[in-house]
Amino acid sequence: MALRGPSDYSREPPRHPSLRINAKEPFNAEPSRRDLVASYITPVDLFFKRNHGPIPILDDVDSYYVTIGGLVGRPTRFSLDDIRKLPKYNVTATLQCAGNRRTEMSKSRKVRGVGWDVCALGNATWGGAKLSDVLQLVGVPYHTEVTPSGGKHVEFISVDQCPEERGGPYKASIPLGQATNPAADVLVAYEMNGEILKRDHGYPLRAIVPGVIGARSVKWLDRIDIIEEESQGFFMQKDYKMFPPSVDWDNIVWSTRKPQMDYPVQSAICSFEDTNAVKPGQVTVAGYGLSGGGRGIERVDISTDGGKSWFGAHRYQKEGVPYVAGDISSDKWAWVLFQAVIDVKGDSEIVAKAVDSSANVQPESMESIWNLRGILNTCWHRVRLLTTQSLRSFL
Ligand code: MTE
Repeated sequence: MALRGPSDYSREPPRHPSLRINAKEPFNAEPSRRDLVASYITPVDLFFKRNHGPIPILDDVDSYYVTIGGLVGRPTRFSLDDIRKLPKYNVTATLQCAGNRRTEMSKSRKVRGVGWDVCALGNATWGGAKLSDVLQLVGVPYHTEVTPSGGKHVEFISVDQCPEERGGPYKASIPLGQATNPAADVLVAYEMNGEILKRDHGYPLRAIVPGVIGARSVKWLDRIDIIEEESQGFFMQKDYKMFPPSVDWDNIVWSTRKPQMDYPVQSAICSFEDTNAVKPGQVTVAGYGLSGGGRGIERVDISTDGGKSWFGAHRYQKEGVPYVAGDISSDKWAWVLFQAVIDVKGDSEIVAKAVDSSANVQPESMESIWNLRGILNTCWHRVRLLTTQSLRSFL
């Protein structure tokens, strides 16, 4: 096999020194808050990295194939060149890990999983073929929800050796109707921000499923199978599901919940850490807002008094183009960045909450969405500003 998942960490790629490392092996890291919102498109080396095993190695690109099989008429092997010859699409989409903001959730009550601050996401322009076009070549037309042989899901299978899969590969699936809908923009991607995918991000081919939690965008593709039921892999069945706050490790029944797909509306302030010393006067509050399923961001509301009163922040994506949620000029799968100038008079709690184009709004309290795996923490994001005056009296 040309693409293989090693069993140890001796051949990991180089990484940017400024990344904040949340786990070394497997490698999990995120950029600083300020670096994250310094640009609309996240530079590849600062893009968060989320892995469940050692990074795969491609020994010989000429003998690499991705096999499309399962319940299809014509199982077929595609080389990287075969995929590159298909019409190329560039889709700007934000990839967000379901575990983004887990550290904050674990402060309320302990959760299991790698801790993440607010930067387990990034926005990139992904280049590749549409999965709907690839599936047409194996006899599955656009807008197919079920194949004649009963296929209803598309499973992406990798080669990495994941302890959760007892050394087996990472896998996940999406519904066939989404995979065969050209407007869903699901990609078999080979480029990120105009460069060949880096090993950390799935070289030579990865799935990109816009608007859906990052866990379904499988890296280092080995097979794509049409299957009857959704993937039975660990990360679909025993992880990345949202349980209510009452469920704990003693009473959890994994089969009672569906695998999480779209992510909910989210925002975070990135111009400040959780607690900051500032001089009284004008400061800029900056951050990001995003929602799943292609829903735009209708508003980002900012409060400087802990959530009693609010005003709207300025939202933007591309320079010189006013952002309008849902408009053709906007990147529907991408985040918006926001900015607001506030006047700090004394100690204050700054809060951000986003509202998406379906009027979904972030929940106020973390307790209402707490879950044992610490996923989808989307509660209002709060930071504390302590003025130097009060700090002096404190010291
Ligand atoms: N694909 C494979 N093969 N192995 C993985 O560990 N992690 C998933 C997804 N695809 C993963 C994977 C998760 S949980 C996320 S959030 C994204 O990849 C992260 O993608 P990135 O590392 O390119 O940012």
